[in-house]
Amino acid sequence: MKLQSTKCRLFLGLSFLLAFATGFTNGKTHYHEFDIQPTAVNRLCKTQQIMTVNGQFPGPTLRVHNGDTLVIKVKNAGKYDISLHWHGVRQMRNPWADGPEYVTQCPIKPGGTYTYRFTIENQEGTLWWHAHSKWLRATVYGALIIYPKPGSSYPFPKPAREFPLILGEWWNRDPMQVLRQATITGAAPNVSDAYTINSQPGDLYGCSNKDTTIFPVAAGETILLRIINAALNQQLFFAIANHQMTVVEADAAYNKPFTTNVIMIAPGQTTNVLVTANQPQGRYYMAATAYASAPGVAFDNTTTTAILEYNSCKSKKGSPMKPILPQLPAWNDTNTANSFTAQFRGISTGKVPLEIDENLFFTINLGVINCARPSFRCQGPNNTRFTASMNNVSFVFPKKNSILQALYQNTPGVFTTDFPPVPPVQFDYTGNVSQQLWTPVRGTKLYKLKFGSHVQIILQNTNISAIEDHPMHLHGYHFFVVGSGKGNFDPKRDPANFNLVDPPVRNTVGTTPGGWVAIRFVADNPGVWLMHCHLDVHIGWGLAMAFLVENGVGKLNSIEAPPPMLPQC
Ligand code: C2O
Repeated sequence: MKLQSTKCRLFLGLSFLLAFATGFTNGKTHYHEFDIQPTAVNRLCKTQQIMTVNGQFPGPTLRVHNGDTLVIKVKNAGKYDISLHWHGVRQMRNPWADGPEYVTQCPIKPGGTYTYRFTIENQEGTLWWHAHSKWLRATVYGALIIYPKPGSSYPFPKPAREFPLILGEWWNRDPMQVLRQATITGAAPNVSDAYTINSQPGDLYGCSNKDTTIFPVAAGETILLRIINAALNQQLFFAIANHQMTVVEADAAYNKPFTTNVIMIAPGQTTNVLVTANQPQGRYYMAATAYASAPGVAFDNTTTTAILEYNSCKSKKGSPMKPILPQLPAWNDTNTANSFTAQFRGISTGKVPLEIDENLFFTINLGVINCARPSFRCQGPNNTRFTASMNNVSFVFPKKNSILQALYQNTPGVFTTDFPPVPPVQFDYTGNVSQQLWTPVRGTKLYKLKFGSHVQIILQNTNISAIEDHPMHLHGYHFFVVGSGKGNFDPKRDPANFNLVDPPVRNTVGTTPGGWVAIRFVADNPGVWLMHCHLDVHIGWGLAMAFLVENGVGKLNSIEAPPPMLPQC
C-alpha cells in the first residue's frame, strides 16, 4: 500500500465541499488539556500516588455531540511513557488519533506532548477514553459522552438526569509494579484489592463509607446511567436493589430496549440503562461483583457499592437509612451472563454484510510455556510462564517504532502481514487439548484487508490450559454480532442460525467460555487497527493481533496525513 502526502488543491477543495455537504464540519470543536500527573489519593485506608489526568479520578468526562471535533492536548508530567485511546471512536481515516502505543503511535515520553484531534462521525451514546500503555489505564480513564446532533434526540424518552457510572478496579500498589512483577515471574499478576464505582470502593470495604458514590433521584423520575466497565481484568455483574434497568444502548449503538434485574459488562464495554425511581422513598445499593468464568483461576471476590438515594432521604435528621443490597448472581453464573447478552437486538445500524469476502477463523488461546528448569522467571504452574495467542501467534508489540509510522515511512522489519486467516492446526478446540499445542510462535503479524471488503470473523474460544470468557475489542470499527454458540463452531450448521436481521452492534464482544462468537463488518476504515482481549492481563501475554486495512481509491478513502509532532520512539 502506498501512502502519499502529496497535496492536491482541487481534491482538498472538493473534499471540503463534500464534508460540508455531509455535515461533518457542522459540529463544534472542543479543546481540552489533559495533564498526566501523579496524584495522591486515599483508598482502602491508605494514601497512594496514582497517575491521573488533571488530578481527577476518574478523569474528566468529555461531553460532545455527534459531529463534533475534539482536540486534546496531552502533556505527560508523569514518570511513565503513556498514550491515550478513545475507546470505540471509529477514527475514520485517522488512525493517528487512535492511541495504542507501538501500534498507531509511539508513546508520549515523560515531559512530552501530543495532540489528539478527531471528529465523531455518526456515533452516539457512551464511549470512554483510557491510557493504552501497559497497566496505566487502571487509573487513567474517563467517560466520553456523545449526545445526538443538536435538533435530534434519543430513541427513548428523555431522562430527567444522566450519570456516568464507571466501574473500575483498584490495587493497593502501583498497578505498573503489579504488572512488572508478573512480567518478571511469568506468573499471573496479583488480583485487585477492590472494585470501584466512579473510583470509590463503597461501604463494604474499610474506610470507604464517607466517600461512597451517591446517585440522587427524585421519586417517580427516570434517570439514565451510562455504565462503563473500566476494570482492568474483570467482567462484572451489576444490579440495583429493588430497581429494574431498561437497556437502551451499548458501545454507542442503540438497541431494542429490554428490561433486566442484572447486567453483565466486560472491560471495554459500555451499557446505557434507564432506571425509574418507582420504589418507596429510600436508599438502595447499586453493586457490582465479579463474573469470573475461568474455573480454578483466582479473582477478586469483593463487591463494590454506590447508593441510589431518593431526594427526600437527604433531609431526614439522624443517621441515614441503611440501604438494601441487591441480589447478584454467583461469580460463576455463566447462564445469567449469557442470557443477558443474548437479549441484545440492534436498531438502525446500517446494513449487515450478507456476502462475505474474508472468512476468518481466529482461535483465542491461553497457554503456558514450559521452562527447562525451575527459575524465578518461571513461576507459573509447574515451572512455566503464562502466554496467550490468536491462531497460535502471540502478539509482540514493537519497541523501536509504531506499526503505523513504520507503514507510513516504509520502514521494514517492524511488522509482517502473514497473520494466518485460520489456525495452523485444526483440533478439538474446546475438548481435551493436547500439550503440544500449548506453545505459540511470537511475532508482530498483521492481517491485510482490502478496502471495502466484507469480513466475517469466528472467534473461537479454546481449552488450552483454561477456558475463559475473553472480551475481544476491535479498534477503528464497530461490528455486527451475528451469532454465538457453545463448543466448536460448525461451518456447515451454525451459519443457518445467524441473525442477519437485527444483530447488535458492538466494539467489544465476549466469547462464551468454551464457545464461539461470529462478527461481521465492512472494512471501510483504512489504517492499522488492533484487535485484542480487553482483559489487560491477557494483552501482555500476547492475546492480540492487528489488521492492516488498505487505502481505497482517492483521498476520501485513504488514511489522512499524520498530524504534526507525532511522538517518536
Ligand atoms: Cu479499550 Cu485497545 O482498548
